[in-house]
Amino acid sequence: TVVVLDFGSQYTQLILRRVRELGSYGELVPYDEPKENVEKLNPVAFILSGGPSSIYDENAPKIPEYVFESNLPVLGICYGLQAIVHQLGGKVEKSSHREFGPAELKVLKQVGILKNLPEKFTVWMSHSDRVEVLPNGFEVIAESENSPYAAIRSVDNRFYGVQFHPEVVHTQFGKEILKNFLSEVANLSPNWAMKNVAQEIIEDLRRKIDGKVILGLSGGVDSSVVALLLHKAVPDKLIPIFVDTGLLRKNEAQEVLKQFEGLGIKIHYVDASERFYSVLDGIEDPEEKRKRIGHTFIDVFYEEAMRLKEEHGDIKYLAQGTLYPDVIESKVAERKAGAKIKTHHNVGGLPEKLPFTIVEPLRYLFKDEVRMIGKEIGLPENILNRHPFPGPGLAVRIIGPVTRDSVKILQEADAIFIEELKKWELYNKVWQAFAVLLPVKTVGVMGDYRTYENVIALRAVTSEDGMTADWAKLPYEFLNHVAKRIVNEVKGVNRVVYDITSKPPATIEWE
Ligand code: XMP
Repeated sequence: TVVVLDFGSQYTQLILRRVRELGSYGELVPYDEPKENVEKLNPVAFILSGGPSSIYDENAPKIPEYVFESNLPVLGICYGLQAIVHQLGGKVEKSSHREFGPAELKVLKQVGILKNLPEKFTVWMSHSDRVEVLPNGFEVIAESENSPYAAIRSVDNRFYGVQFHPEVVHTQFGKEILKNFLSEVANLSPNWAMKNVAQEIIEDLRRKIDGKVILGLSGGVDSSVVALLLHKAVPDKLIPIFVDTGLLRKNEAQEVLKQFEGLGIKIHYVDASERFYSVLDGIEDPEEKRKRIGHTFIDVFYEEAMRLKEEHGDIKYLAQGTLYPDVIESKVAERKAGAKIKTHHNVGGLPEKLPFTIVEPLRYLFKDEVRMIGKEIGLPENILNRHPFPGPGLAVRIIGPVTRDSVKILQEADAIFIEELKKWELYNKVWQAFAVLLPVKTVGVMGDYRTYENVIALRAVTSEDGMTADWAKLPYEFLNHVAKRIVNEVKGVNRVVYDITSKPPATIEWE
């Protein structure tokens, strides 16, 4: 395992992603993780991340002693570099000019991490302290205008440090630098591929699971991949539960059931829509809607699980589609709180209530890796590429109170939008697209009649991760066509508008 020690940089997860993309298995560990836990990972190299601290801060995080004692190759990035220099007897100074953004790197020695790279290229800087004196046995291998020690190494080829961030895309040849570290310095050959990973997970599940296992299946990518992995590992032990909240997209429940049937997986279907509509009756506040839906979901799932336990007796496990970012997030939260808090759960709070052992086969994977695994094990394209869908479903896309009728109107309009996006081959070009039903009536004219009906807003965004998003510049002819179809075909709608705000300042959803 390539161990990435986290000193708190916003880019730490990116370092790990690059390591895995380059074919080495890596894990992220807080810098103060106990030594025994790190040893268990069988480290083959260390990468020290950047971080917000200054070496001179009180309680500045330190590189743990075991890193120096290990004799393994070490790459320090930004704060990581400064910590190496500081702890090995060099000197880091507070710098009067902060260096932030692109800088030109001048390579002085094309060795180790800089092997086969051009003499000059652009790198991404983000720091204020800088190295002034190198520890004994170190040499400088690249400089920039503001950082005379932009890249350094120990002459025994074991320690490397860079002041810039090779993990971000703004650094040219950043990936090559990390690749050189893994192959040239640490002598690792790529052995992490999704094919092996899927097989390993399946075998691991087969070894571990010795009783019935339930799973909350939503039809989204993560829970679908978990379902298929379990099906391949322990086909006769899996009981997927699909809770129909009545707040799903048009025909979604039926489609999910059919698709999984096609894969040979029988789903335990629960229609709880009445119950959801009744707890939402008259509720307008978005957070209140979310809260009620969340609680109701847990209640329904709990009751169903208990019922199934009566029936099947030996249900032992609850599988969940928790991903690596969730795991990291809850680890960070745990440390910040300074106490052991509950781990992250996709279906908020479920496990505390349930007498099952949790199984999380995706807990070491990122979203795109989950997609690759899904593809590898034969999950159909349309599940793999399905747009994200919020847990509270259409309830947060109906502004104001939710009723069976308003759900129906929204479902129809949304289905037309999605159908046309697919027809025009635009569906896979956007991160997410959907319709929103507004609590506004406007005047229109249809034929010889004056109408007074609802407004539908269309929302489509491009995004990398949902954290920021840009409104999608969909073609006018397309929008024109969709608007016409919605007004003509969806009873109760006489006007369609298109949302042209990005996130921030708006969010993707309207509630
Ligand atoms: P926002 O609206 O915050 O959405 O820009 C970012 C992404 O998160 C999804 N989303 C949710 N997902 N429960 C969920 O499971 C929620 O309450 C929720 N709210 C927003 C949203 O669809 C988008 O992909």
